[in-house]
Amino acid sequence: MRDQFQKIKRLSVLGSTGSIGQSTLEVVRQHRDKFQVIGLVAGQNVDLLIEQAREFRPKCVSLSSNKAAEIFLARSPDPHIQVLVGQEGAEKVASLPENDIVVSAITGIQGLKPTLAAIQAGKKIALANKESMVVAGPFLQTQARRAGAEIVPVDSEHSGIYQCLRKERPEDIKKVILTASGGPFFQYSPDQLASVTLEETLRHPRWKMGKKITVDSATMMNKGLELIEARWLFNLSPEQLDVLIHPQSLVHSLVELKDGSLLAQLSPTDMRIPIQYALTAPNREKSSLPSLDLRKIKMLEFYEVDTERFPLINLARQALQEELSFSVALNGANEEVVAAFLRQEINFIDLAPIIFKVMDYHQSRRINNLGDIFEVDHQTRQLTRKIINQWMMKGKRR
Ligand SMILES: NC(=O)c1ccc[n+]([C@@H]2O[C@H](COP(=O)([O-])OP(=O)(O)OC[C@H]3O[C@@H](n4cnc5c(N)ncnc54)[C@H](OP(=O)(O)O)[C@@H]3O)[C@@H](O)[C@H]2O)c1
Repeated sequence: MRDQFQKIKRLSVLGSTGSIGQSTLEVVRQHRDKFQVIGLVAGQNVDLLIEQAREFRPKCVSLSSNKAAEIFLARSPDPHIQVLVGQEGAEKVASLPENDIVVSAITGIQGLKPTLAAIQAGKKIALANKESMVVAGPFLQTQARRAGAEIVPVDSEHSGIYQCLRKERPEDIKKVILTASGGPFFQYSPDQLASVTLEETLRHPRWKMGKKITVDSATMMNKGLELIEARWLFNLSPEQLDVLIHPQSLVHSLVELKDGSLLAQLSPTDMRIPIQYALTAPNREKSSLPSLDLRKIKMLEFYEVDTERFPLINLARQALQEELSFSVALNGANEEVVAAFLRQEINFIDLAPIIFKVMDYHQSRRINNLGDIFEVDHQTRQLTRKIINQWMMKGKRR
């Protein structure tokens, strides 16, 4: 047993060039005697992947396009590294027989198939890619049970819940409360929200993250996605899920039990903590990060979410009650409008109304398989793009 625990864990990082991927590799750097990197998956950032490959000497890497893979091959730091391409390449890395742990940190629905491949291979999955749980939660959980895979959350809120729930019986859970920082515009008036820029949106007050999740945090869609993610991760009913704004971002989540006890998980605002826990759970390893000094914390505040200014959270709540297709459509519409906002085709204030318009057309339907998920996703994206184009033609963009 002791040997098993001390054995070096071999891991693959899907999305190694992103914010979570880089923080994961930072955790590995701190614990070289515990982890060995054997697979890395990136999108287009060849320069950083080459650097990572030089440092960690993986057995295999994958990039999202042929062009990126060719550049990598030409400059590969080691001719023995196998270079793969596209979704298939990512799936192969995710299901390498040598993997003990797969860190799933590609952004968006792009991460679904590689995550599923790791699950079907029966691995331990450190799950950051929340979108895959949002669009396919029940399928991923069924597959995980069948294959004996373990899914451990990386998202700080879900890591907090996971830690609070370790010793609790499901029937004792009354409520799970996810906290939200409130994002950069927590105190903005509707007038101020109407004129925020992309640059302001990407300046998150607490976390340094990838662009998509940073925009989602500003609209509070991120918290909506996290509600849906929590539902499937912990098998909770919609009534058991709640959100509170907590601007200090130190309490990551709370669990209320039926006897009135409230368990909370606190830690410094640094993703390396939940990432490391996901890699080592149920055990713990030392962290080199400074401790949370409670004497310096003047107050911990909690507020209700203002759904007038941040209405997308209501659509996520509705998704908890509807067929899974609603979550798939909501996620697809959100990914499309965020991409349009990042290309500066639409304004921040347009994000929510366009998503509401798309969802007005959505007819909830039963999802029977992965094919259904991708079909709903594809149709919703087409519709969203059409609505965005109409929006732009009407000159609604300032
Ligand atoms: N950042 C956080 O603090 C945080 C916290 C909780 C949860 N999450 C979740 O973790 C996931 C990643 O977030 P992030 O902030 O790390 O995003 P990010 O910085 O944008 O990184 C995304 C990663 O995915 C890669 N990628 C994108 N498309 C790909 C494709 N088609 N094939 C292969 N790789 C692809 C990117 O590669 P290139 O850069 O090389 O193109 C990059 O490595 C998201 O689902 C997010 O919601 C993030």
